Amino acid sequence: MVALPAQLETSRLILRAWGPEDAEALRAALDASDAHLRPWIPFMQAEPRTLAATQAWLLELAAAFAEGSAARWAIWGPAGDLLGEVMLLDRVGPDALELGYWLHRDHTGQGYATEAARAVVQAGFQSGIHRVVIRCDVNNAPSNAVAARLGAEETGTEHVGAPLPGTLRVWTVSR
Ligand SMILES: CC(C)(COP(=O)(O)OP(=O)(O)OC[C@H]1O[C@@H](n2cnc3c(N)ncnc32)[C@H](O)[C@@H]1OP(=O)(O)O)[C@@H](O)C(=O)NCCC(=O)NCCS
Repeated sequence: MVALPAQLETSRLILRAWGPEDAEALRAALDASDAHLRPWIPFMQAEPRTLAATQAWLLELAAAFAEGSAARWAIWGPAGDLLGEVMLLDRVGPDALELGYWLHRDHTGQGYATEAARAVVQAGFQSGIHRVVIRCDVNNAPSNAVAARLGAEETGTEHVGAPLPGTLRVWTVSR
């Protein structure tokens, strides 16, 4: 994967690559948002983790960021709260990255996911990739709305089995 900045700033947000020091904040966000995230987010299959397992996971994410296989940033808000996560994953072929995002259930409806996603898409393009792909379950209206707000085009559908069976709408943002 291309090299991406460990920290990005937008008008309201700071996006910072995860580190083990974020484990308590992440635990609180995931525990409060479990029912909101579980239907849509594959990694929720491994939740709830213990605090120690969360620290170990965040160390793995920091290593993945450093080696360039996955860039995952915590989204920090204006009051210093952990709002959610935005990620660019190297799993959709050359010159492209897959965008993912989730928000704490108490921080939806304020444009934060779109603002964070726009920043990492821009960073991806500045780093030399040509396409960002978003794959959302067809029934996940808020997630598909983020893709549409980013100016992505619908480029197909995919049927998936485990861990979350369903039909995904595929969106593409091109440089
Ligand atoms: C997907 C998800 C991140 C979308 O969250 P969201 O809050 O709808 O998206 P945004 O943060 O971009 O906020 C957009 C909303 O904020 C509103 N908004 C309020 N203030 C705003 C501001 N200052 N700027 C921009 N938008 C603002 C927008 O009008 C929009 O409202 P609407 O939904 O009524 O149209 C969230 O639903 C989620 O975490 N879902 C579970 C996890 C998930 O499905 N992830 C994606 C898997 S593919």
